[in-house]
Amino acid sequence: MQKIDLNGKTILVTGSAGFIGSNLVKRLMKDVKDATIIGIDNMNEYYDVALKDFRLKEIEGLNEQMSTITYQFIKGDIADKATIDGIFEQYKPQVVVNLAAQAGVRYSITNPDAYIQSNLIGFYNILEACRNWPVEHLVYASSSSVYGSNKKVPYSTDDKVDNPVSLYAATKKSNELMAHAYSKLYNIPSTGLRFFTVYGPAGRPDMAYFGFTNKLVKGDTIQIFNYGNCMRDFTFVDDIVEGVVRIMQGAPEKKQGEDGLPLPPYAVYNIGNNNPENLLNFVDILQQELIRAKVLPEDYDFDAHKQLVPMQPGDVPTTYADTSALERDFGFKPSTSLRDGLRAFAEWYASFYK
Ligand SMILES: NC(=O)c1ccc[n+]([C@@H]2O[C@H](COP(=O)([O-])OP(=O)(O)OC[C@H]3O[C@@H](n4cnc5c(N)ncnc54)[C@H](O)[C@@H]3O)[C@@H](O)[C@H]2O)c1
Repeated sequence: MQKIDLNGKTILVTGSAGFIGSNLVKRLMKDVKDATIIGIDNMNEYYDVALKDFRLKEIEGLNEQMSTITYQFIKGDIADKATIDGIFEQYKPQVVVNLAAQAGVRYSITNPDAYIQSNLIGFYNILEACRNWPVEHLVYASSSSVYGSNKKVPYSTDDKVDNPVSLYAATKKSNELMAHAYSKLYNIPSTGLRFFTVYGPAGRPDMAYFGFTNKLVKGDTIQIFNYGNCMRDFTFVDDIVEGVVRIMQGAPEKKQGEDGLPLPPYAVYNIGNNNPENLLNFVDILQQELIRAKVLPEDYDFDAHKQLVPMQPGDVPTTYADTSALERDFGFKPSTSLRDGLRAFAEWYASFYK
């Protein structure tokens, strides 16, 4: 592994107004010295832009306190080649973290174009820029959804992942394939990260825990898919950020093969909790924490607002991360409990929507 010292580096984070991206930028601002951090986000309206504005404001607030960091936010689209080329030409980032993407499994059924634009063309633009202005490490978000409906658990990065069940998953698997080709052809050190169901404060309202909360607050009924028989490896956002920051500092090594050509400096890791929870149990803890944070009244009749329904197209019954490679190479494994993570979410929700 090639160690990378982030201090003094220029770091590009795409999707920096997003849930994971904004948390990553904040963490880098706190921990890295004398760095230039460039964030790019197109601020699209897939979900409430007020959340993206809130996250950017938090970053700005932190930036004012951090005298050794140079921070620049660019409102732009990674699917626009000229924008990406311009950023690379001007800033020549040494470390790139690509988190900009059209996320969500269900939305890819009704809005496939957004996935092709952001996830394929956008990622291709990033790869091309990394080829033209070589970087020390390209880190990019893949997803646990690449495991499709694989039966073997826990999901290991050694498993075959050729059976995506959504276009979203297909674009994420394509990103891994594209990165492999670019790593091999142009010796670009790249690491793909398969995130498992990330949750936390200022998260994504399209995800179940946030959507459930919005509905319960309005007095609507929540639908629990597959009659609640879903196991999810829910991963708290701080654990994801910890994993990303560690991995940014360890790039796959450049080596030569027997044929004299470079071996691809390429790696893929799971970042998940390695501890799947039943969806019903998750909802139970969420309810308790929403009451504790006074988002819902103590006598809230949850049973009257819960409906158990069948599985949805594109959904998978179980996600479960094998994190042994992450532990072996980076000495880390997510550990935040659902109780602590959902408490942080409920408290943030109470303050944000008050
Ligand atoms: N949150 C999860 O559970 C999860 C799980 C697996 C993988 N991921 C992946 O992690 C990454 C970050 O996810 P997130 O949960 O923070 O999602 P997010 O939607 O909150 O963040 C993505 C950000 O990228 C921006 N964006 C989208 N398309 C863009 C484009 N073409 N150009 C510039 N900006 C663009 C969006 O405006 C958004 O702010 C994504 O690649 C996602 O697919 C997330």
